[in-house]
Amino acid sequence: MAEQKLLSSHYSNVFADHYDSWFGTSSETADTVELLAQLAGSGPVLELGIGTGRIALPLQARGVEVIGIDGSEAMVAQLRSKPGGQHIPVTIGDFSQVPVEGSFSLIYLAAGTFFELPSQQAQLDCFTNATRRLAPDGLFVFDANLPETLFATQSTNGQALATDGDQLIVRYRQLDPAAQRYTSHYVIIDDGATRHLKVAFRYAAPGELDLMAHLAGLRLKERLGGWSGTQFTRSSAYHVSVYEADAAKPSGVQARSVSMR
Ligand SMILES: C[S@@+](CC[C@H](N)C(=O)[O-])C[C@H]1O[C@@H](n2cnc3c(N)ncnc32)[C@H](O)[C@@H]1O
Repeated sequence: MAEQKLLSSHYSNVFADHYDSWFGTSSETADTVELLAQLAGSGPVLELGIGTGRIALPLQARGVEVIGIDGSEAMVAQLRSKPGGQHIPVTIGDFSQVPVEGSFSLIYLAAGTFFELPSQQAQLDCFTNATRRLAPDGLFVFDANLPETLFATQSTNGQALATDGDQLIVRYRQLDPAAQRYTSHYVIIDDGATRHLKVAFRYAAPGELDLMAHLAGLRLKERLGGWSGTQFTRSSAYHVSVYEADAAKPSGVQARSVSMR
């Protein structure tokens, strides 16, 4: 969690005021909410890294009961300042530990947040602890870049990102394959001011994610090519993975006895 606090102070806390306008276009937000609403079941649902409520608020407006976890008070303050933001219970803490009670028909992460967990162990912990909070027919869902995409875009750095506003955002990804990590550097020019924002990630290929799921007592139900529900194919750059309980395996049992460090 110490490393996470450092990361949060880098962007979540410092850039919380601008997060919504700089990141996440409205079309991508709408696709994400639509797919999550279809997967939500009877609820309640839990968002790990709920942030400013970019996804949670419109999902709640669709009649889904949402609760969240986030490590950044500043991001959650943004959520609280929005209409409906007072009605979403949020726990401040490390989401890899899933520090909430109850059981959920859907636990999800959006905007590539899973890879913000800084190590393989933290990512495995997240799978294991989420599994313990899933209802019997519950789903664990998140989106992620493919390593191949990260490497392909490295050679065409930096890339201008689409935004809904007047800002110019250029992203440069610095990869470290030896550590299976990358840092995204964003140069943001907004209303005459230039900022430099850095976010660190630990990436994993789908096969490694599926193995973590297996260790936690889950199995892959479906892999999509994005939040719009496109098929996952050999030309996909991205994936949205949907995990469900593995009926052949008691949840979390293996993960407690296996360390993948
Ligand atoms: C990229 S933002 C996504 C916010 C929101 N899910 C969205 O799609 O707009 C990632 C969020 O996860 C939070 N976060 C990252 N790692 C975390 C951790 N280990 N525990 C709790 N929150 C974390 C950050 O503070 C931030 O609010």
